[in-house]
Amino acid sequence: MSEENTQQFEKIMSLMKRKGFIFQSSDIYGGLSAIYDYGPLGVLLKNNIQNEWWKAMVQKRDDIVGLDAAILMHPMVWKASGHVDSFSDPLVDCKKCNLRHRVDHILTNKGIDADDKMQLEELESLIKENNIVCPECGGELTKPRSFNLMLKTYLGPVESDENIVYLRPETAQGIYVNFKNVLNTYRVKIPFGIAQVGKAFRNEITTKQFIFRTREFTQMEMQYFVHPSQADDVYEEWKERRLRWFLDLGIREDRLRFKQHAKLAHYAKDAYDIEYEFPFGWKEVEGLHNRGDFDLSQHIKYSNKDLQYLDPETGEKYIPYIIETSIGLDRTILTFICNAYEEVEGGRTQTTESSKEVEYVLHLHPRIAPVKAAVLPLVKKEEKLLGIARDIASNLREDYITMYDDSGSIGRRYRRQDEIGTPFCITVDFDSLKDNTVTIRDRDTMKQDRIKITEIKDYLKDKIS
Ligand code: GLY
Repeated sequence: MSEENTQQFEKIMSLMKRKGFIFQSSDIYGGLSAIYDYGPLGVLLKNNIQNEWWKAMVQKRDDIVGLDAAILMHPMVWKASGHVDSFSDPLVDCKKCNLRHRVDHILTNKGIDADDKMQLEELESLIKENNIVCPECGGELTKPRSFNLMLKTYLGPVESDENIVYLRPETAQGIYVNFKNVLNTYRVKIPFGIAQVGKAFRNEITTKQFIFRTREFTQMEMQYFVHPSQADDVYEEWKERRLRWFLDLGIREDRLRFKQHAKLAHYAKDAYDIEYEFPFGWKEVEGLHNRGDFDLSQHIKYSNKDLQYLDPETGEKYIPYIIETSIGLDRTILTFICNAYEEVEGGRTQTTESSKEVEYVLHLHPRIAPVKAAVLPLVKKEEKLLGIARDIASNLREDYITMYDDSGSIGRRYRRQDEIGTPFCITVDFDSLKDNTVTIRDRDTMKQDRIKITEIKDYLKDKIS
């Protein structure tokens, strides 16, 4: 990462903490590595993004239904899914400082082409050929070995091997094991999808990129069941649809791209990532996979249950293929934040008051922004203005997350809202007393419209939707 990008990313992280979006977990005890909490604004942002996804994937479609499976599942699920045997990262330890690293990450940081699907012998040769040492202390590295990423715990009172359960590493399996339940109880026909949002856990080793890679995270996954002959076409359609979702919510087109996987995960026939250009480089935000019949076949084999689909029209019985869209909510939040972030040296209005300061603006799409409107009485001295402003705020709260702020100069209050991405600031001034109007300032253009108090809700509805 360039020095400039490092500094920018540090400022983004600091803004997120300062403004109550994201805190390190268990902060007062020194923090828990790669685990984060969402503060008052962060939880609003997170819920808004999740709701947009749910709306696009479930509410607006008649071929996708929702599900909320439990985090803990029968341990056989993870045997069948291949996670017990294959869900691992290649790691090396430093013989001197004992730090553990992902081999593929050390190699790619040195400009050497490598990934986590390479054979351990291949990675070992690359380490030897390129004289790779510990990036922290220069010490000699051990041979690469596989490290399973699943977190384990024990279910019930006895801590024995038979009672091991895993914290799910993906939500997808909860959908596969419920495929027949949904099919038998809800009137769906192939092609159809099942979507769910939920927590997943991975014992990641490389964790330095804030909420990009965390050990506890939220996934939003959708599994679309199709006839094998339709799989390729449906896969292409979902690639387009998912890219459009990001664009419609304001993500810059030049910062998004598709990347096909050269090496495939154990379950995939084909895989593409939607990547975003973060300050620390192009990274995956969403994975789209053609999982073929891998998952249902495995569950048929391990459970001895018939999970085939009987086509009611043709009478054909087959194991459906699955097209998966899998998105990490936390890294999507980071995508929206990085995309929205602007830093203005000397201030946006260049007034004397602001000229020495850097101003921060989050240009979040109004549907994503945590607070939709702020109501600001022009001066604090005039009780009548405060009363009107409070009434407007209280009325807007019926429909929108709204802030009321009467402290400090109006310029400072605008900047406070810009920093948290509030798209509309409503100012109550002396004219409001005469004609029941207010000004509404647009965060991005800074243009002000004068409108009647009774029309505020319609105005916001029009702009937000
Ligand atoms: N379900 C796919 C993934 O977790 O990456």
